[in-house]
Amino acid sequence: MTLPSTMRAAVTVRHGGPIELRDVAVPRPGPAEVLVRVGAAGCNNTDLWTREGSYGTDERAGWLGPLDFPRIQGGDVAGTVVACGDADTTGIVGARVLVDPALYEDSGPDARPVDVLGSERDGGFAEYVVVPADRAHRVDDSPLSDVELASLPIAYGTALGMLERGGITGGHTVLVTGASGGVGLAAVQLAHARGARVVAVCSGDKSEAVRHAGASEIVDRRRGHVVADAAAAAPGGYDAVIDVVAGGTVAPGLGLLRSGGRWVVAGALDGWAVELDVRRIYLANLALVGSTMHTPRIFDLLVDLARRGEVRPVISATFDLDEVAEAQRQLAERRHVGKLVVVPARA
Ligand SMILES: NC(=O)c1ccc[n+]([C@@H]2O[C@H](COP(=O)([O-])OP(=O)(O)OC[C@H]3O[C@@H](n4cnc5c(N)ncnc54)[C@H](OP(=O)(O)O)[C@@H]3O)[C@@H](O)[C@H]2O)c1
Repeated sequence: MTLPSTMRAAVTVRHGGPIELRDVAVPRPGPAEVLVRVGAAGCNNTDLWTREGSYGTDERAGWLGPLDFPRIQGGDVAGTVVACGDADTTGIVGARVLVDPALYEDSGPDARPVDVLGSERDGGFAEYVVVPADRAHRVDDSPLSDVELASLPIAYGTALGMLERGGITGGHTVLVTGASGGVGLAAVQLAHARGARVVAVCSGDKSEAVRHAGASEIVDRRRGHVVADAAAAAPGGYDAVIDVVAGGTVAPGLGLLRSGGRWVVAGALDGWAVELDVRRIYLANLALVGSTMHTPRIFDLLVDLARRGEVRPVISATFDLDEVAEAQRQLAERRHVGKLVVVPARA
């Protein structure tokens, strides 16, 4: 196949700056890399934070520090391998792949991500993207569409990481906060699929969709009594709380856990400065577990689910490549339930 020399890409010009649809050079894969024609690229909160530079404390920055611009964002990519950078990777050309957006600190199964596609490297809001060959996982026979596959890596990878780190299994009772959002809805689906009983916290107007995803009870956070309502929904207590909201719920919410329960936190939409009575933790043998993204082992589990179609991501809307800014605007508004996904080939 002859590759074009240029492609269309949604280019983020600077922190806080515009996203421009530009013609740029098609990147060429180096050794141990492949070129993927992007079938679909999912949107995530991290795109907003990275574009705004909101991870920085004193100055605007990405999650690991200053970023180079212009940058093509988009960490969630599904597509087809169309070229490779060396003879060792020719076997994967033509394969349908789901891309692990992370590079890891070492080669172990539980290694930590230290670099993310669309942040430290150009990502999938473009017609083509270069990724390491060993991060492109074959999903040739998956029953999921590219749009569904591209919804998985960051939101479902993070949710799966939280369930794994929380030791969630069938028979557990689990409270999920932010349950109508990308990570939360994924946690509801994945925990339900494991046989857990899920109580979900969300705004009341989104409850039908969250129930449909697998929640057996809804706590409407707009009533303003999240902890009391969550306690009433599970009088026997919770085995774990899967939390992306944090803030004022954490301290009183620890009392919702059964002895030995786990509070797994991956986000802080309601505030990160939290005051705790540590006696509540040690006297009840509770665990407060921090959880960021996935590991190679957890991503392999996610790829297995994708290959078998055992999780069907909820899609809210798809966008053309020239609509990335609109997709990010809608993401920030949070009126939707499910994933917003960019389909570059349609533009
Ligand atoms: N650590 C990691 O690796 C990692 C990875 C991905 C995301 N995150 C973080 O996890 C958080 C959630 O991400 P997401 O992509 O799932 O977000 P999202 O899609 O925007 O959804 C979050 C949901 O939480 C609810 N919410 C928003 N503000 C709230 C508040 N102040 N108090 C209570 N609920 C609130 C909203 O639902 P309702 O309107 O229904 O209440 C919203 O839809 C973000 O902070 C994100 O940065 C962390």
